Amino acid sequence: MSDGPILAVEGLTRVFGSGRHANLAVDRVDLAIRPGEVVALIGESGSGKTTVARMLLGLLPPTEGTVRYRGVDLDTLRRREGMRSYWRNVQAVFQDPFGSLNAFYSVRRCMLNAFKLFPRRPPRAERIARVREALDIVGLDVDDMLTKHPHQLSGGQRQRVMIARALVVQPGVLIADEPTSMIDASSRAAILNILLDLRTRLGLTVMFITHDIGMAYYTSDRLFIMHLGRIVEEGPADDIIRDPQHEYTKRLLADVPTLSREWIL
Ligand SMILES: Nc1ncnc2c1ncn2[C@@H]1O[C@H](COP(=O)(O)OP(=O)(O)O)[C@@H](O)[C@H]1O
Ligand SMILES: [Mg+2]
Repeated sequence: MSDGPILAVEGLTRVFGSGRHANLAVDRVDLAIRPGEVVALIGESGSGKTTVARMLLGLLPPTEGTVRYRGVDLDTLRRREGMRSYWRNVQAVFQDPFGSLNAFYSVRRCMLNAFKLFPRRPPRAERIARVREALDIVGLDVDDMLTKHPHQLSGGQRQRVMIARALVVQPGVLIADEPTSMIDASSRAAILNILLDLRTRLGLTVMFITHDIGMAYYTSDRLFIMHLGRIVEEGPADDIIRDPQHEYTKRLLADVPTLSREWIL
């Protein structure tokens, strides 16, 4: 099982609406992510990326197709252990960190809430220690942060708190849906580097979701190019950048003036 994918979808399909108004948002998507990989799902706005992410997270039922975590169907997992056990393993960071934070909660309270995913919470001292450790990993000043509220933080700090909150349950997989698209340009590289560092430091498997093929190339081993609900091309990042096969990939690349792994540093 260790050789198999940690997360895989097969024939994943989602239709919104019905009849004349049916919208095929995701159309028979297959993808498999191996443990420890960093992959990117790339496509323009409306191509179905977030819908794939929501199905991967078990937040939206597929119209057709399966999601498997370590070879086990999500429906089976849901029946057997409930979704909390899955969410301890697979966490997400979304594009709008303000929307994901409760304005009335301090950072400490927001972070401690993550332990609701455990059937038996660890003792308070351990919970606090893990919160501090997670805030430290994302490069925040721990003592300064704990009592702050969302409106007292910059966009970059808020997104770091959201990453820390995802880490506090010690997941194996992180899905990052446009994690820097609402962050000012000056903090973007730092946030991406923190996310990348998680693989090295924690052995995390990461899926980046982005409209930016440059960002995907910079961060990821393998790319999945999505267009109108379908994966039109996939492969090692270097191969795709050097020799794109699909017209849509070529178009995406034509929009990026220079592409090197150093461009963002
Ligand atoms: N909850 C929803 N109800 C109806 N249509 C939706 C819903 N969520 C997404 N869609 C539609 O599905 C398509 C894909 O959206 P989305 O997955 O958000 O794309 P992306 O994340 O790539 O921008 C779009 O046409 C969008 O309007
Ligand atoms: Mg989206």
